Amino acid sequence: MKKLEPEEDAFGQEMWACYKGEEAFEIVERDDGYFNASPKGPRLYFSEYEDWDLIDRKAMEFVKGKVLDIGCGAGRHSLYLQKMDFDVLGIDSSPLAIKVCKLRGLKQARVMSIEELNFKPKSFDTIIMMGSNFGLFGSFTKARRLLKKFHRMTSKNGLIIASTRDTYKTDNADHLEYHKRNKKKGRMAGQLRVRIRFRKCVGRWFDYLIVSKKEMEEILKGTGWKTREFIDSGNSAFIAAIEKEPKILTRTEK
Ligand SMILES: C[S@@+](CC[C@H](N)C(=O)[O-])C[C@H]1O[C@@H](n2cnc3c(N)ncnc32)[C@H](O)[C@@H]1O
Repeated sequence: MKKLEPEEDAFGQEMWACYKGEEAFEIVERDDGYFNASPKGPRLYFSEYEDWDLIDRKAMEFVKGKVLDIGCGAGRHSLYLQKMDFDVLGIDSSPLAIKVCKLRGLKQARVMSIEELNFKPKSFDTIIMMGSNFGLFGSFTKARRLLKKFHRMTSKNGLIIASTRDTYKTDNADHLEYHKRNKKKGRMAGQLRVRIRFRKCVGRWFDYLIVSKKEMEEILKGTGWKTREFIDSGNSAFIAAIEKEPKILTRTEK
């Protein structure tokens, strides 16, 4: 992926403004013309453990060993884990988000996109994808390709902790219409084509995948991963703790 130019780094500009104490909104534009503006978005990325949703706090109990935080944003989860003495690396495609992470004290933070991950086998014990970042998998096919890569990058008892929202838990007519439109195009219902806007900054279009539990399990099938547990919020958000399937030993490996 070509490095983001500053005028394309809308996510980062939003976090940079928030870091400087300026007013910031998160504006997500979908390719059907639907805009979602959230004043909570940017501030949420800076929130402290005590203020997180309960499911995020519960999810941290699963974390072990060496951690990779994919799409770490302003680093809230990485910074918490670092404080808890975990060896954690935060990566994000946004150069400004990574600058913010470093200024906030994250020791290991790198500009890197999920598409560029290129770590040696068994480099991590836990991969976290928080703030609905299961979405960064983008599509059914890309998710499966990346999951197989994650399998190699993680240790024998490796874990993925991934947060998402159930696509179908909505009665918003525009969203329901969008699901239909997606299906007609052969895309998953919750395969959102979106871009972020902030002030004069317009991010690149990208696919962000939101899935139901059943769809998540469908995606995991045959990738070497299975869900260990779902952490439910009581609304559409949920987090999955995903573990490696036991390897079936062949006669020669026994
Ligand atoms: C919804 S925010 C979540 C931030 C953080 N995980 C949290 O919960 O506070 C999504 C983050 O993913 C990053 N991102 C978007 N596309 C990415 C990609 N292809 N690779 C890596 N990071 C990406 C954005 O820059 C942004 O910081």
